[in-house]
Amino acid sequence: MWARGIRKRGLTRAVRSVKRQQASVRAIGATLALMLIGAIVHLGFAKEAAQTKGAMEKVFPSSDKCKRCHERVFEEWEASPLSRSIHSAAFRASLHEFLTRTGNEDRAMCFRCHAPHVNEYLDQVPMFIAQAQSGDPAIDGVGCAQCHLINQVDRSSAQPMPKFKLGKTLFGPYSDYVDNLAHESLALELFRKSDLCLNCHLAVPTAGDLGKSNDLLGNWDTSKAAKAGKECQTCHMPEQFGESANGERRRRVANHSFPGRVGTLRQEAAKLTLDTVVTGEQSEVTVTIKSLVPHNLPTTHPGWARVLLELVIKGKNLKVVYTEQRVYGRVYGNAKGEKTVFDFEATKVLKDTVLKPEETRKEVFRFPTPKDAPSFDVEVSLHYAPVTGPSDFLLRIEAESSRGARDPVFRPIPIAKQAVNIPLR
Ligand code: HEC
Ligand code: HEC
Ligand code: HEC
Ligand code: HEC
Ligand code: HEC
Repeated sequence: MWARGIRKRGLTRAVRSVKRQQASVRAIGATLALMLIGAIVHLGFAKEAAQTKGAMEKVFPSSDKCKRCHERVFEEWEASPLSRSIHSAAFRASLHEFLTRTGNEDRAMCFRCHAPHVNEYLDQVPMFIAQAQSGDPAIDGVGCAQCHLINQVDRSSAQPMPKFKLGKTLFGPYSDYVDNLAHESLALELFRKSDLCLNCHLAVPTAGDLGKSNDLLGNWDTSKAAKAGKECQTCHMPEQFGESANGERRRRVANHSFPGRVGTLRQEAAKLTLDTVVTGEQSEVTVTIKSLVPHNLPTTHPGWARVLLELVIKGKNLKVVYTEQRVYGRVYGNAKGEKTVFDFEATKVLKDTVLKPEETRKEVFRFPTPKDAPSFDVEVSLHYAPVTGPSDFLLRIEAESSRGARDPVFRPIPIAKQAVNIPLR
C-alpha cells in the first residue's frame, strides 16, 4: 500500500518534465537536438532514481504515510531534531568536510545513523549523499520506519549500527495492540529499553582507535538513574496520556519530540551553587556544578559539541568588571597531531573536560574585588556553546543555511544559571 502514492508522484513528475522538454524543443528547434538527447538521458536517470526511491519506500515507508493515523506522534516527531537529521546546514557542511578531508573508505558512514536505511542500500550511497546535499531531501533521515523496523541491538559491538527486520510488521511497545489495515504490529521489549537508542547513540567512528575514550555517553550503565531503572525514554520520550492512533483509545503514549537541546528537559540538567569569599582586594567564587545527567554532558559528537560555564562580575552601576569561562568538551588531535573539531579524523584525545555522568565539579575563579561599589553581582551561567571550527567550515554553514549567520548553531543554548549579590560593607 505504501508504494502506490510514490509511483504516482514519480509518474506525474516524469510527465511534467517530458512536457517541459517538448516545449523547449519546439521553441529552440533542431539545433538543440543534442540537448534533447541530454534530456532523455537525464530523464532516464531521474526515472531510475525515482524507481530506487520508490522501491526503497516500499520497505521504509516515508513518515508522511503514518501521519494519517498517527497524527499526534507525527507532529511531535516533525518538530524534533530527528526529523531533520540530514537537513541541517551543519550536517551538510560537516558531510562535505568528511567527504573531502578523509580517505573516506566508508562513504556511507554519516548516514549509518542519520539515515540508517542506508545500511540496507549500500549501492545507493551516492543517492543519499546527493539528497542530503540538495538541502531539501526527499527521503527521510530518522523517520518512523527507521526506528520501528529495528528489532535488535548488537551490544557486543563497540560500534553498533541499526539492524532491521524488514517486512510488514512494525515493532512497538504494545503487546495488546489493536489491529489495523495498514500494518501488522508486534511488541518488542527493546522499545522500552535504552538499547534501542544505543544503536545510534553509543559511539561514532573516528580515524584512530580511541577505544572507550570516544564513547558519547560515558559510563551511563552505572549511573544512579540507570540503577534506578531509568531508560533513555524516561527522560527523552516522557510518557503522557493520549491517543495511540487517531480515534483509538487513550492510553500511555510516549512523547516523540525527543527533548534535548530543544525543550524544557534542559532545566533538569544541572544545579549550580555559588560560594563567594571576599578578602580585601581579592575575591574568590567557587562554583559547584552538579550534573544531573546520567551520561556525558555534552555528548561529544560532533567534535565541536561544547558546554561553557561563564562567570560575569558586575560592579558599580552594573558595569561588567570581570568575565571568565571554563569549557566542558573534548579536544581531538588528528594524524598530524593538530587539533581538530572533526571526530571522523580524530586519532587521539588531547583534552577531555566533559562532565561525566552525574559528576559534581568545582570551579574556582579569582578576581579583583570591584572598587567604589556598595556591592557586586556574581552571575554564572551554563550553556551549550555555538559551533566552532575552521573558518571555511563556519562560512560554509553560513552559506548553506537559509538563515545565514542567524542559523541556530551560531547561538548559545542556555542550560542553567545562578546569581547572587555580594554586599561589600
Ligand atoms: C537510527 C539512529 C537513531 C536511533 C535508533 C535513535 N536516535 Fe536519537 N538521534 C539520532 C540522530 C542522527 C540525531 C541527531 C539529529 C540531528 O539533530 O541532526 C539524534 C538526536 C537525538 C536527540 C536530540 C539531541 C539534542 O542534542 O538535542 C535526542 C534527545 C535523542 N536523539 C534521543 C533518542 C532516544 C531516546 C532514542 C531511543 C528511543 C534515540 N534517540 C534513538 C539517531 C538515532
Ligand atoms: C553512530 C551514529 C552516528 C554516526 C555514524 C554519525 N552521527 Fe552525527 N549524530 C549522531 C547522533 C546520535 C547525534 C545527536 C547528538 C549527539 O549525540 O551528540 C548526531 C548529531 C550530529 C550533528 C549535530 C546535529 C545537526 O544535525 O546539526 C551533526 C552536524 C552530525 N551529527 C554530523 C555527522 C556527520 C557529518 C557524520 C559523518 C562524518 C556523522 N554525523 C556520523 C549519530 C551519528
Ligand atoms: C528514534 C526512534 C523513533 C522514531 C524516529 C519514532 N519512534 Fe515511535 N516509538 C519509539 C519508541 C522507543 C517507542 C516506545 C516508547 C515507550 O513506550 O517508552 C515508540 C512508540 C510509538 C507508538 C506507540 C504509541 C506511542 O505514542 O507511544 C507509536 C504508534 C509510534 N511510536 C509511532 C511512530 C511514528 C508514526 C513515528 C514517525 C512519525 C515514530 N513513531 C517515530 C521510537 C521511535
Ligand atoms: C490506517 C491507519 C494506520 C496507519 C496508516 C499506520 N498505523 Fe500504526 N497503528 C494503527 C493503529 C490503529 C494502531 C494500534 C494502536 C493501539 O493499539 O493502541 C497502530 C499501532 C502502531 C504501533 C504500535 C505497535 C505496537 O505493537 O506497539 C506502531 C509502532 C505504529 N503503529 C507505527 C506506524 C508507522 C511507523 C506507520 C507508518 C509507516 C504507521 N504506523 C501507519 C494505525 C495505523
Ligand atoms: C534522568 C534523565 C535522563 C536519562 C535517563 C537520559 N538522559 Fe539524555 N539528557 C538528559 C538531560 C537533563 C540532558 C541535558 C540537557 C538537554 O540537552 O536537554 C540530556 C541530554 C542528552 C542529549 C543531548 C546532548 C548534547 O550534548 O547535545 C542526548 C543526545 C541524550 N541526552 C541522549 C540520551 C540517551 C541516548 C540516553 C540513554 C542511554 C539518555 N540520554 C538518558 C537527561 C537524561
